[in-house]
Amino acid sequence: MDKLLIQGGKRLSGEIAISGAKNAALPILCAGLLTAGDLELSNVPHLHDVATMLKLLGQTGLQVKQDGERVTLNGSAITRLEAPYEMVKTMRASILVLGPLLARFGEAKVSLPGGCAIGSRPVDQHIKGLQALGAEISIEGGYIYAKCKKLKGTRIVTDMITVTGTENLLMAATLAEGETILENAAREPEVTDLAHLLVAMGAKIEGIGTDRLVIQGVPELHGAKHAVISDRIEAATFLCAVAAAGGDITLRNTRTDIMDAALDKLREMGLEMTIGDNWIRAQMNRRPTPVSFRTTEYPGFPTDMQAQFMAVNTVADGASRVTETIFENRFMHVQEMNRLGAAIETDGNTAFIKGVEQLIGAPVMATDLRASASLVIAALAARGETLVDRIYHLDRGYDRMEVKLSAVGADIRRIK
Ligand code: EPU
Repeated sequence: MDKLLIQGGKRLSGEIAISGAKNAALPILCAGLLTAGDLELSNVPHLHDVATMLKLLGQTGLQVKQDGERVTLNGSAITRLEAPYEMVKTMRASILVLGPLLARFGEAKVSLPGGCAIGSRPVDQHIKGLQALGAEISIEGGYIYAKCKKLKGTRIVTDMITVTGTENLLMAATLAEGETILENAAREPEVTDLAHLLVAMGAKIEGIGTDRLVIQGVPELHGAKHAVISDRIEAATFLCAVAAAGGDITLRNTRTDIMDAALDKLREMGLEMTIGDNWIRAQMNRRPTPVSFRTTEYPGFPTDMQAQFMAVNTVADGASRVTETIFENRFMHVQEMNRLGAAIETDGNTAFIKGVEQLIGAPVMATDLRASASLVIAALAARGETLVDRIYHLDRGYDRMEVKLSAVGADIRRIK
């Protein structure tokens, strides 16, 4: 299993190009199931989760051609309407094939995802929404069996805001008969990016970017070209790295208009930023000011940045409080950060952090994707050597993070 060896205490300096967003790429790849035409995608990030999704889609009969960050999909010969347990258990986003397969072929068999490290993460809202669209759904032997003659448009109000739930229902509704209204829809930029692709494929969607999506079903969708939106979480992760370790870096290929919550908090921390249309220059020459926040749905503070900001707070000049409201078990980085000398206590879904002057390197264990990124940030700020184990989590969602960090002067090495 690969590990990362990091010698902390180096200032970061130079440029980093941000990749396409994982959480936009995954649903967008699944949209390839909705059409017999060619989907020509660019800015697809080089990630383990993308490889897993392409493997799963390939098993359905979707043809996949990949050339670096370009991926072309063709769905004219899909034969297997299934996502098996072996795939779904390694990546929950596999559930995103359910809506497209059912809407286009009238049938799908998808394994129920189990629990996961950050919380129980049920998919009841995906199922409830598809049932409202007229699907017959049963659960047997750990699988969701879904069937329909033709999905029929209706009004769906989800019990909570769900990102992949909205994406699944949106994709299904594009091929349903008549009008579907999705109330309480997720407004995350990755949902919006998927909606723009669907419109390019011939879907009729109003209210894009709002919590009320109105979809007029069409009989079929056609091929399209699309560039995946820039990864706001990857960009903000590197900004946290410079906030914690100090330095002067410029990020390229960013979308700063979708990062307000994170940028506001980084400014409060003392990160000096100059912001262009698609770039950010960030400078940090002092100890960070602590920031307190609660995670919420977009446009609020993203749960996917909670751990990385906590890493900066561990070395900040004072105390802070972080409340996680989206997932019930997303504090597993806390014990690992405390191994590096951080002073964090938790009470339920709130963490209380007392900034320390200096973290000290130690062996730590990554537990999930964003927790791994937070440990890398803490290690960059720490004195001495940190060995981060189980970095396969990091490879799922960050495009060659250690290569990008080495290029800006971090002392970070992958050990096979
Ligand atoms: N929920 C339910 N029932 C459902 C759906 C969701 O109870 O049917 C609950 C979840 O358990 C959770 C909350 O609703 O407590 C929100 O979950 P959501 O469905 O929005 O999360 P997701 O779609 O499974 C996506 C991202 C996550 C990100 C969350 C929240 C993808 C592939 N994943 O997950 O990304 O944290 O939205 O923004 O888009 C990551 O990239 O590290 C990651 C975990």
